[in-house]
Amino acid sequence: MSKPLPGPGEILALVLDLDVPNARFEPLAESLSAREHARRRSFRDPEHGRRWATGRGLLREVLAAAVGIQPREVVIRYGEHGKPRVESNEGLEFNLSHSGTLALLVLGLCPVGADIERHKPRRWADVARRFYAPGEQEQLFAPPEAGQQARFFRIWTCKEAFLKCTGEGLGRSLRSYQVKLFDGGASLAWAQGVEASEYSVFPIDPRPGYSAAAVALGRSLVLRRREWS
Ligand SMILES: CC(C)(COP(=O)(O)OP(=O)(O)OC[C@H]1O[C@@H](n2cnc3c(N)ncnc32)[C@H](O)[C@@H]1OP(=O)(O)O)[C@@H](O)C(=O)NCCC(=O)NCCS
Repeated sequence: MSKPLPGPGEILALVLDLDVPNARFEPLAESLSAREHARRRSFRDPEHGRRWATGRGLLREVLAAAVGIQPREVVIRYGEHGKPRVESNEGLEFNLSHSGTLALLVLGLCPVGADIERHKPRRWADVARRFYAPGEQEQLFAPPEAGQQARFFRIWTCKEAFLKCTGEGLGRSLRSYQVKLFDGGASLAWAQGVEASEYSVFPIDPRPGYSAAAVALGRSLVLRRREWS
């Protein structure tokens, strides 16, 4: 199998299953650091802790394969607002998101952001009225009504992936930028404080019942899905 290392101009997206059999889980868990084991134990629901540990183990496995080291040798550091990054000579950057039984891992040679959301029942129209920029609300509530929930999750994941790409997290207002959907894709229409056209936005359909997106700092990038199991 080729290395999961993105080429120049390429963004890799890996959808990861977090419910794995014990035989797959054990070596992943063995690669975790003492702090990561403590984090796993801190989850109130052990099943959630196991999924978190699976995601972290798979992250180590993919990053290790990309740069040619062992999973336990991967060094992950945290930036100012908690954005994790990996030490690598290749300039590799990543971002990870979890929801339900899946995770989305995005890799690039530039800053990247990932978001995945399970379609949980929620008052999505109220959430959109509160958090979406006016142009996003216009696009969301436009007819046909039948597609509105899918558009809600598509906009949400693109918005979240943008916050995770810049690394600002909730330090940036959700109304300070606008995602625009179009047939087969999305873009950043405008964003306070940055040049929107510098960002590439990729909605992803991971599995039925989930939405996801990747955002990367760079123009004319290509997204490639990559299997990892
Ligand atoms: C922390 C945050 C960055 C993402 O959190 P989230 O969506 O709950 O969870 P995700 O699984 O998608 O992402 C968590 C991962 O993002 C990464 N991360 C943490 N801080 C980050 C930051 N500032 N920038 C980028 N990535 C970050 C970490 O890898 C973290 O995983 P870990 O806990 O295993 O280390 C933050 O944006 C947040 O809390 N967002 C939710 C806000 C919301 O309600 N959005 C509605 C959109 S309309």
